[in-house]
Amino acid sequence: MNLAVEVAGIRLKNPLIAASGTFGYGVEYEGVLDLSVLGGIVSKGLYLEPRDGAPTPRIVETPSGLLNAIGLQGVGISAFVRDVLPRLVRHDTAILVNVCGDTVEEYAEVARICDASPGIAGLEVNISCPNVKKGGMAFGGDPRMTHEVVAAVRGATGLPVIPKLSPNVGDIAVFARAAEEAGADALSCINTLLGLAIDVETRRPRLGFGTGGLSGPAIRPVAVRMAWQAARAVRIPVIGIGGIASAEDALEFLIAGCHAVQIGTANFVDPGIYERVLAGLRAYLERHGAPDVRSVVGTLEYPGVARPCDDPGTGKPGGCA
Ligand SMILES: Cc1cc2nc3c(=O)[nH]c(=O)nc-3n(C[C@H](O)[C@H](O)[C@H](O)COP(=O)(O)O)c2cc1C
Repeated sequence: MNLAVEVAGIRLKNPLIAASGTFGYGVEYEGVLDLSVLGGIVSKGLYLEPRDGAPTPRIVETPSGLLNAIGLQGVGISAFVRDVLPRLVRHDTAILVNVCGDTVEEYAEVARICDASPGIAGLEVNISCPNVKKGGMAFGGDPRMTHEVVAAVRGATGLPVIPKLSPNVGDIAVFARAAEEAGADALSCINTLLGLAIDVETRRPRLGFGTGGLSGPAIRPVAVRMAWQAARAVRIPVIGIGGIASAEDALEFLIAGCHAVQIGTANFVDPGIYERVLAGLRAYLERHGAPDVRSVVGTLEYPGVARPCDDPGTGKPGGCA
């Protein structure tokens, strides 16, 4: 049975990737699970310099979800490349860096450093973090800025460029197309949904930053819808993210047209989630007589709508794999 997929020219042994910010820099999990089980790992968001992040509390549980405002705390790209990457590359899994910036130039500079660092398979460009005052969602919430950041990163590196889109927009297709036009090789959909939790006793926000980003099963139907809309809007592959906690959840994204998926919040509940989802994927493929996971991609039968992988010109099926 084949579980391997290729996204943006990156070969993944299976379609499961650890989502940025929910898996540290990867090495923190070395004693917890075999990292080579994973198709890939996306690092916590990295700027040029180290950052302290947002004031505490940074995480609040909500029904079927998690509201966070970490504020992109991190060691900075140089420390990652020097101290973490040499350890991470010992594992047989694709390493992606989540690239952040306060300015367009900073995104490009982080990308340049990654380009010169062997072992990095690709760049996920974080233009969608809701928990920072500059950059983040400010870039991902404006299609012209999305284009500008992606084009700058594209110009700074030969590595695959994968912008991570925000769900906090009206029409994600507009942003997907802007990123594709700017030279993106794939898209990650989606980051967290902007939320607010209030402590009714103190009448203050429950997070130190104020608002936060909602993740977990609560956002899955929104995420599947947005990943599906993005996949229909572009020719480049889409990586689906949002609330995946089972093989069935992952399959929803694949059927919607995603070539791979990321798992975030569910990893906090059970770091064994990857093996559990992989076993479930295998069982599903076996049950459906499908020896290749790629045959599931984009097979959504949506009334009156062409399948995401159908040729937009002719409407003929196929093309995803
Ligand atoms: C605690 C936490 C930290 C996160 N940090 C980042 C980050 O640094 N960069 C980023 O692009 N996304 C970050 N995210 C968003 C996740 O990568 C993912 O897009 C989102 O949580 C939805 O997936 P999930 O429902 O499986 O968690 C973070 C999410 C959480 C919960």
